[in-house]
Amino acid sequence: MTVKTIDELQQLITKKINGFCDKNGEGRIFQPVNYIMQLGGKRIRPALSLMSANLFTDELDDAIYPAIAFEVFHNFTLMHDDIMDNAPLRRGKPTVHEKWDTNTAILSGDAMMIQAYQLLIKTEPSKVIPLMRLFNQTALEVCIGQQMDMDFEQKKQVTVQEYEEMIRLKTSVLLASAMQSGALIAGADDVAQKNIYDFGIHLGLAFQLLDDYLDTFGEEDQTGKRRGGDILSDKKTLLMIRAYEKAGPEEMKVLNTYIGNSSIQEEEKINSVLSVYEKLKVADDLKEKVLHHHDTALQCLHQINVDDFRKTELKSISNMLLGRKG
Ligand code: IPE
Ligand code: IPE
Ligand code: MG
Ligand code: MG
Ligand code: MG
Repeated sequence: MTVKTIDELQQLITKKINGFCDKNGEGRIFQPVNYIMQLGGKRIRPALSLMSANLFTDELDDAIYPAIAFEVFHNFTLMHDDIMDNAPLRRGKPTVHEKWDTNTAILSGDAMMIQAYQLLIKTEPSKVIPLMRLFNQTALEVCIGQQMDMDFEQKKQVTVQEYEEMIRLKTSVLLASAMQSGALIAGADDVAQKNIYDFGIHLGLAFQLLDDYLDTFGEEDQTGKRRGGDILSDKKTLLMIRAYEKAGPEEMKVLNTYIGNSSIQEEEKINSVLSVYEKLKVADDLKEKVLHHHDTALQCLHQINVDDFRKTELKSISNMLLGRKG
């Protein structure tokens, strides 16, 4: 009875992703696919998926391709997200629409979505239908979340509750569903699957909150993304929402000058909004929420009725994610 370590799983994932890229070859449509897949990234979705399977079984063969499917799908969403967010950098390198062009990023992204399905069905046939049901529901929710995220750019008043629903949809459900898939393939019962899904939801909420924090306060060489991108796009992050809630007349004047205004010099906009965030200490509010969701995630894990030693890697990856800088 053994549980694979994060490092062992990451090695396995890298090997499978390299095999996937080799098979793609050099065709025009696959060059951006291999480019984004081989830029690295934390690979947390497949790792979480395999760890969830490993809670219930030592045998991970049936779980590996679906785990990779989630990573391919994730990278597809990033390729399209970078167009929507007008992002120049991804994992420290030019985004696909910058390196090639927007049409290329749309089409190669589409191809990746299909490839995710091809990988997903490379599992034990009796598991394919429930897996597809879960995956389809999730994929649609991600699209709905992305639509909300874009709608909120134009909206001045967004509540914390609306924000949490948006990040649940655009980010958490994919982590949760990757985890549930691993458990499903490993034969976990419905109650355990629900607990593992809920673990993923809360981990995902903490994860996206931190992503928003790092977008504003992180170091570009660690995040690999352009610092301040969320401020430039008027994203209604928790930082922004709390800033509006806490602002006195002076801060409100700054926010009203810069938010929703794209005709201003970029660095001026980022620095002015950042100084309001710092003054109002909105990062503290965000960190409090991160801890809350992290604790709730661990409570969900606690509910799962398997030997404690099987949970150690999941606990340690979630602690690692809490301290991440990129
Ligand atoms: C970025 O995801 C998009 C979000 C949902 C925040 P990751 O932070 O997992 O990106 P990579 O795959 O490690 O680059
Ligand atoms: C990403 O949210 C959500 C999806 C890709 C579906 P962000 O737009 O914050 O992700 P990054 O910061 O570009 O990685
Ligand atoms: Mg986005
Ligand atoms: Mg983005
Ligand atoms: Mg972000």
